[in-house]
Amino acid sequence: MRNFSRLDEASIKSVNIHEGIDSTLLILQHKLRTGVNNKSVEVVKRYGQLPLVECYPSQLNQVFRNILSNAVDAFEEHNSQMEDQPFTIEITTSLATAESILIQIKDNGMGIPAQILNKLFDPFFTTKPVGKGTGLGLSISHQIIVEKHGGEINCASQRGQGTCFTIQIPISQPVEASYLAENTLSQISTAGDSLITTFAADLKPSLSKPLS
Ligand SMILES: Nc1ncnc2c1ncn2[C@@H]1O[C@H](COP(=O)(O)OP(=O)(O)O)[C@@H](O)[C@H]1O
Ligand SMILES: [Mg+2]
Repeated sequence: MRNFSRLDEASIKSVNIHEGIDSTLLILQHKLRTGVNNKSVEVVKRYGQLPLVECYPSQLNQVFRNILSNAVDAFEEHNSQMEDQPFTIEITTSLATAESILIQIKDNGMGIPAQILNKLFDPFFTTKPVGKGTGLGLSISHQIIVEKHGGEINCASQRGQGTCFTIQIPISQPVEASYLAENTLSQISTAGDSLITTFAADLKPSLSKPLS
């Protein structure tokens, strides 16, 4: 039997997105309190009314963590305009459509120059010193949102003004993916050139894929 917790972690669940964000903020609590140059970071939450969202919760939390850590890092570059302004991160959630939700994470940090905005999600793209940045946070986040959840992630920013990441994800995932993840495989049999997978639930064999 494979490690059960890993199996569990990989499954799609219906979750309260706000709980995921809050638990991520708790993990980053120290970083937020210590802040940057002795100035702490204020987090403003504007949570809307959201339904439960079908997702891979730990992966989504990883996305929140990557974006929030980047936001804190963005306060590190000295910005004279910010001398008497608090560092803030605003997290806004809302329904985007009847089928999808929107999560916005906005900081008033140093912002991003226009000429690198289109490189942000590239693997290994970083502007941070060696040893600090890996350049993987956003490329992994992009993969999780777009490929794993069929959503979208975008960034809007202006140098010296701050940065806003917008994530849109569907409320439900395609039925086959959630069955695959949530139902115990009761039987896997190979027949001829097909792999037939039968689920424990009272379903007909619902997957029939040629073996390559
Ligand atoms: N909130 C932000 N403010 C300013 N720059 C950002 C922000 N988020 C990401 N970036 C830029 O995007 C780059 C890539 O981010 P990421 O993939 O997380 O890698 P890393 O944080 O390791 O550099 C960062 O090096 C930084 O230049
Ligand atoms: Mg990062």
